[in-house]
Amino acid sequence: MPTHHTPVHLAAAQAVAASAGVAAEDLKVEAPPRPELGDLAVGCFTIAKAAKKSPAQVATEIAAAFQPTELLASATAAGPFVNFRLDRTQTFKWLIDSALRGQLVPGAVGTGKTICIDYSSPNISKHLAYHHIRGTTIGHALVQIFRALGYKVVGINFLGDWGTTHGMLLAAYNIWGAEEPLDITKLNHLYVKFRDGMKTNPDLEQQGRLYFKKLEDGDPEVRALWQRFRDISWAEFEEVYKLLGIEFDEVRGESAYEPDMPGVFKELEHLITESEGARVVELEGEKNPILLKTKDGTTLYATRDVAAAKYRWNTFHPTRSLYVVDRGQALHFRQLFKLLLKAGHSWASVCEHVPYGLIRLGGKKTATRLGGVMLMRDVFKVAEAEVREVIARVNPTLAPEIVDQVAPQIGIGAVVFANLATQREKDIDFDLEKAVSLDGDSGPYIQYSHARCASIARKAGEKVTSIEGIDFTKLGHDAEWELAKKLLELPEIVVRAADNSEPHGVAHYLLQLAGEFSRWYTAGNGDPTLRVLVDDVPTRRARLALVAAVQATFATGLGLLGIAAPDQM
Ligand code: ARG
Repeated sequence: MPTHHTPVHLAAAQAVAASAGVAAEDLKVEAPPRPELGDLAVGCFTIAKAAKKSPAQVATEIAAAFQPTELLASATAAGPFVNFRLDRTQTFKWLIDSALRGQLVPGAVGTGKTICIDYSSPNISKHLAYHHIRGTTIGHALVQIFRALGYKVVGINFLGDWGTTHGMLLAAYNIWGAEEPLDITKLNHLYVKFRDGMKTNPDLEQQGRLYFKKLEDGDPEVRALWQRFRDISWAEFEEVYKLLGIEFDEVRGESAYEPDMPGVFKELEHLITESEGARVVELEGEKNPILLKTKDGTTLYATRDVAAAKYRWNTFHPTRSLYVVDRGQALHFRQLFKLLLKAGHSWASVCEHVPYGLIRLGGKKTATRLGGVMLMRDVFKVAEAEVREVIARVNPTLAPEIVDQVAPQIGIGAVVFANLATQREKDIDFDLEKAVSLDGDSGPYIQYSHARCASIARKAGEKVTSIEGIDFTKLGHDAEWELAKKLLELPEIVVRAADNSEPHGVAHYLLQLAGEFSRWYTAGNGDPTLRVLVDDVPTRRARLALVAAVQATFATGLGLLGIAAPDQM
């Protein structure tokens, strides 16, 4: 239920609710299907039911009794809906004031609520690549979105730093060694060699198990080596996170839960059965049970996730506990949450898997430039190089120091946006050229729209920062009004993105806003009276205020996605 209406939406809801004895907060306010019908529509379905009348009859009565208010100019009935026209001047005033204060996103929706977001969570001794790029960008965007709405957000990196694979790597290193300086590439190479070797040499598997056992038992040498692999990995991850502006509130990897394992087994004792030597729990509606311990007695991913889920609940009491993890792990999470419920943890209902689709290399050029592999840090580098080429072509006079400053922001923004612009459950083919293009559905296009607003203000020699002295009656021609209505959509868009854990809606919205802005701005090409920088000073100032509000909204939106908003490019 929408309880976060803006004053403008609330006015429409109240106009309907007042006569019907329902709470305005509970009424849905939407945009009519066509602009000729009005600016906002409120359906009379629930009211009609209570009044035992037809929705159309109720709508007609409400429209007939309507009295204009500060924000509402008129009302008409259209079938079961009451359509309202807004007072354009008052609406512009509220919108521009809110946008300039950075308050268009309702900042109190999440007051008092905590959201845990487990995201990125890569495995150590491997590069951040492919699906982790997607999960990292989606998770980071969700963190920004929930925070903007006033939720307390706990961003968690559940590093994959424990388990038998790490035993294998330790064994591999002990057998073959590696050249210094050690890095993730070499570690990964060792691991691959080990897995290959296992196919023909069964002894290796035994070695891997032995090393994991040593690790679990706290053998100081093995522990120190593991710590070293972890540090090397974290150093590279952190570099990438820094580029993205990501700081986790908690970095608690799987290893942190190792001490909790005996407790988990004790608690689940009565549910555990044995299957081929392994310890499992049968779950309702599941063909296979959830595996908690292998037949050699090592604990598993799922066991550590049980401990982590309990820790998160006990520590943060979240309203929602999100797991932004690729959809390939759907079964794991479904079973994990079922197990928690079966163990009597009714709070498991706050846990949600937020799945996302694959990302693949798209296009020959992308594959060639990236050497066929998608490592996050390389993708950023290659995108930046591509952006430099684009800038050299479209804005060759941009000062070199500015280019150096903005090229990484735009390159990274391009990659992030490409990951968010598609619904998260859909797969994407990452195409470098499309991602950096200035006229496609890209991050740089939004950044460019933002920079264009900034450049208009520079050209005018005036940046409007508050509504003081602005005459809002000067605003209101149709292209201007379409732009205003687009701004008016932002609050609902952001709330929905949070509800559905789907940042795609914000990315899509920004593309629409950029389109609307461009239509308004270029309307002045055909009709000089529609130009932003007209001679009439009050009109010019009012339009500059709108430009500033749009600029602020681009900056807000990009910020929600974790993308920088440079002033020049
Ligand atoms: N480390 C896992 C992987 O790379 C993801 C962990 C996701 N989070 C969790 N609580 N299981 O696939």
